[in-house]
Amino acid sequence: MNVVIRANEDEVALYAYDLVRDRIIHEQAKVLGLPTGSTPLKLYARIAEGFKRGEIDFSDVHTFNLDEYLGLPEDHPQSYRYFMEENLFQFINLKSENIHFLDGMTDDIGAECEDYEAQMDELGGIKLQILGIGRDGHIGFNEPGTSLNSRTGYVTLTEGTIADNKRFFAEDEDVPRWALSMGVGTILDARELLLLATGANKADAIAATLEGPVTSMCTASALQLHPDVTVVIDEAAASKLKNTSYYKKTADDSEAMAKYLANARRKAGLE
Ligand code: GLP
Repeated sequence: MNVVIRANEDEVALYAYDLVRDRIIHEQAKVLGLPTGSTPLKLYARIAEGFKRGEIDFSDVHTFNLDEYLGLPEDHPQSYRYFMEENLFQFINLKSENIHFLDGMTDDIGAECEDYEAQMDELGGIKLQILGIGRDGHIGFNEPGTSLNSRTGYVTLTEGTIADNKRFFAEDEDVPRWALSMGVGTILDARELLLLATGANKADAIAATLEGPVTSMCTASALQLHPDVTVVIDEAAASKLKNTSYYKKTADDSEAMAKYLANARRKAGLE
């Protein structure tokens, strides 16, 4: 895993923006997986600014969001579909037919979730999946105890997640208890993963994700099994990691490694 530690939230967003822009331009990463939450907000703001400056074009990009609350229509101010419109979609030239979202008001959850995965397959799968992380180490809405092979389906939210969400709803009884979410297995199918985390309240989750065992009790730990993951975190979220000096040593050192090897080959008369 490529673990990148930056001083603060702004630096995390800048690194993530450069990576997303690079993949869209140079690797034809035309199918993106997107998260909601406060963590990606600065990245979305940078994407909107980058689009304005003409740096990225979304005209042939498709997006799949990770999850949606069950029982909230897409125009509900707390729905994730509404969140994406407010914070990203309205600012870029994504075609509305290329926005893929789980329908929290579906009357057939099984068919809705199967169809969502079929849409991903039809487009050749997600190329770059961006992720946030819950305080208990969940990705998407895959709460502790979810199978690491799970596919898109409905999930029962933990009391902790429900409590975290209460601030967004007027009445306690309005806070959703279930959600539809890509499964951990669905997330692992993406060609590349980009996990973002900022703030001291994510430090335990990040330590468990990167340095704990692979366990369904921290679904983000499944990222250890994926071949192409970049984790971009600020110093506060990194504060409980033990292997930090190695991450700093290895982050972005591929150029230095290539130079070293070229030199060694030259010395040995191979070039
Ligand atoms: C929810 C979302 C996750 C998100 C998490 C953290 O659980 N389903 O996708 O990563 O919240 O949100 P925040 O970035 O606001 O801390």
